[in-house]
Amino acid sequence: RKKVTLDTLRSLRRKNEPITMITAHDFPSAHVADHAGMEMILVGDSLAMVALGMEDTSEVLLDEMILHCRSVARATKSAFTVGDLPMGSYEISPSQALTSAIRIIKEGRVQSVKLEGGTEMAPTISKITSAGIPVIAHVGLTPQRQHSLGGFRVQGKTTIGALKVLEDALAVQEAGAFAVLLEAVPAEVARLVTKKLDVPTIGIGAGNGCDGQVLVQVDMSGNFPPGRFLPKFVKKYGDVWGEGMRAIESYKAEVKSRAYPEPQHTYPMPAQELMEFEK
Ligand code: KIV
Ligand code: NA
Repeated sequence: RKKVTLDTLRSLRRKNEPITMITAHDFPSAHVADHAGMEMILVGDSLAMVALGMEDTSEVLLDEMILHCRSVARATKSAFTVGDLPMGSYEISPSQALTSAIRIIKEGRVQSVKLEGGTEMAPTISKITSAGIPVIAHVGLTPQRQHSLGGFRVQGKTTIGALKVLEDALAVQEAGAFAVLLEAVPAEVARLVTKKLDVPTIGIGAGNGCDGQVLVQVDMSGNFPPGRFLPKFVKKYGDVWGEGMRAIESYKAEVKSRAYPEPQHTYPMPAQELMEFEK
């Protein structure tokens, strides 16, 4: 597998071949995603919930993002890697954002950063990209702003809302973003935005008119207990939780019954030594 670069992503868009992206939060989740041939791996701040058990993304620290980015980067040979700038690490000023972006790149070893926001983040995106760090902008539903959005709501459902999404996407492209991530917007809006932009759009809950798709790995692989709430856009492609449960329950039963370990799991001792030892 060849290393995916920004040129690869641009050429996929030109060929109208969808770009595949998935989140990873540690070495094994990145390892499997990279081996499966994902073109992009995102260390999303969703790791706050899926890896750290936090309530929402607002709790995760830049240092924690960096630690996880570094383990993902070690496992990733082919995919183009993106690290999320967590809440509080980029909103204060473009220079704060650049300082944080440089840390994610230098210490986290990923290749680009993602931040949430549209028009109002344009100067920040310019600042980071002019330092040679590729930026992907996340517009539509921006989870870090859940409280000011009034919860996890679909964005761009009204004419005014749709125009805002388009305006944001155009502004971040103008500011130098190499791609635009569209979360939870009507498919028609995402399709139109994709048509109007020159850079690729990556959708999540944004229909199939985008240039690519992204999902959170623990969601799409079914790595969570039954009964958990899933957003409408998630498709469960696997049952990693069920497989883990089956394996661990079998292990438990075999330890309790002494079926495990068997001789082939055990280190033998030469008979002569054993005799000496038992004397
Ligand atoms: O943090 C994350 O996983 C994300 C994706 C949902 C796009 O931002
Ligand atoms: Na995120």
